[in-house]
Amino acid sequence: MVDFDRVNYDGLIPNNVGLGEDDRVKKALEKWHPGYIDWWNDMGPDGFQNALVYLRTAIGVGSNGWATFDYVRMPEYKWGILLAPKVEGRLVPFGASKGEPAWQEVPGEHRAMLRRLIVIQGDTEPASVEQQRYLGKTAPSLYDMRNLFQVNVEEGRHLWAMVYLLQKYFGTDGREEAEELLRRRSGDADTPRMLGAFNERTPDWLSFFLFTFFTDRDGKMQLEALAQSGFDPLSRTCRFMLTEEAHHMFVGETGVARVVQRTCQAMRDAGIEDPYDVGRIRALGVIDLPTIQRKANLHFSLTLDLFGSEVSTNAANAFNSGLKGRYREDKLDDDHTLERATYPVLRPVDGEVRATDVPALSALNMRLRDDYVKDCQKGVDRWNRVIHALGIPFEIRLPHVAFNRKIGEFRSALYDLAGRPLTADQWKAQETDMLPSGNDQDFIEDLMKTPEMEPGKFASWIAPPRVGIDNQPGDFEYVKLA
Ligand SMILES: [Fe+2]
Ligand SMILES: [Fe+2]
Repeated sequence: MVDFDRVNYDGLIPNNVGLGEDDRVKKALEKWHPGYIDWWNDMGPDGFQNALVYLRTAIGVGSNGWATFDYVRMPEYKWGILLAPKVEGRLVPFGASKGEPAWQEVPGEHRAMLRRLIVIQGDTEPASVEQQRYLGKTAPSLYDMRNLFQVNVEEGRHLWAMVYLLQKYFGTDGREEAEELLRRRSGDADTPRMLGAFNERTPDWLSFFLFTFFTDRDGKMQLEALAQSGFDPLSRTCRFMLTEEAHHMFVGETGVARVVQRTCQAMRDAGIEDPYDVGRIRALGVIDLPTIQRKANLHFSLTLDLFGSEVSTNAANAFNSGLKGRYREDKLDDDHTLERATYPVLRPVDGEVRATDVPALSALNMRLRDDYVKDCQKGVDRWNRVIHALGIPFEIRLPHVAFNRKIGEFRSALYDLAGRPLTADQWKAQETDMLPSGNDQDFIEDLMKTPEMEPGKFASWIAPPRVGIDNQPGDFEYVKLA
């Protein structure tokens, strides 16, 4: 009998899926393992592979304490395969097969679609590690450096989670996909990662915090939708990934909040009231709020593209076949088949943005994106509370969903931050007010040139956190450099 609440740490691959009794999959994963370690050494955090990092490692999936904290060299991190506990009697919760027992094996007729969903999710995990690999060298504190590395090792574990599903349930083509996941590279001209935002640069720490706030949150939404899946192993995998993902959201939201707090505090201390007095504010060694807004505009709009076209037959098929549900499907009160329902989709009509009703099944990407925007707004509200508490007249705003889009309804025209159409000339004239300029980027990278390596110290542009990780004191040495 396999005890699914405890993780078996005896073998090479910690797991709660009974790998010890599954020779075929165990061998396949052991064969994949060296390639993964090579990838980690090549593409993981540059310059810190020998450092001792105070990391959390998952040791169980039960409700009472699922992780331990200890110093670990990242290449020796225990990347395990962990599924949330099985729910007895679980049924396919939506789509044409709604009410059937949840599938423990891949339903043959949906095999290709399921594999594609797993590969696309899997591809994002190593991509973000690649995007963030140089950031350790400019970390604003050991606390932040540790958080970066924690996110990185957990994205590595998320890759393992998807590779397990491929190796266990998809035979030869699953094995090939697992190899490809190690071969593609973020931003590479020949073998890029599959989705646009995962080929962009994450060149500085403000980008990192905004990436974890906006782009990891897309990951959260996708995992939430897949956690509803009628394919039970995928559901259980994603449910456990979501417990780790919560920390990534935390790193992003509190990271931006601390940058904003430091800026507002420095402005107050210097007696600067106007948030647009950029020269004087930057001279204080902090990032002016309008620049933070422009960076947020960029990350938000890039991330919206990850939701795909608002109207999509792929999304309809994935739902209809019971593979990918809606956000919190199990909490929604309707027929869960959506055969007759409609949903309003924003699209350009006669030069303006209008909502038109379309069949709800084909509007599932739009719906998930709407849920995402609401979730983002809550975090933005918290940032604004920090600004208001310090008495600075400024509000961070999410741009209109039509702004700066490359995919979907708004891809072929230009819009301003409020969703008003722009001509190419108008866009050009306003661009540096809406998106970060080369000058903004130079300023930020200059500000973040050197890391802050002394325990308890923080760079000039960011406030310390309110509490330490694992309740450690303020001067705790989160990373011991080799
Ligand atoms: Fe992830
Ligand atoms: Fe994440």
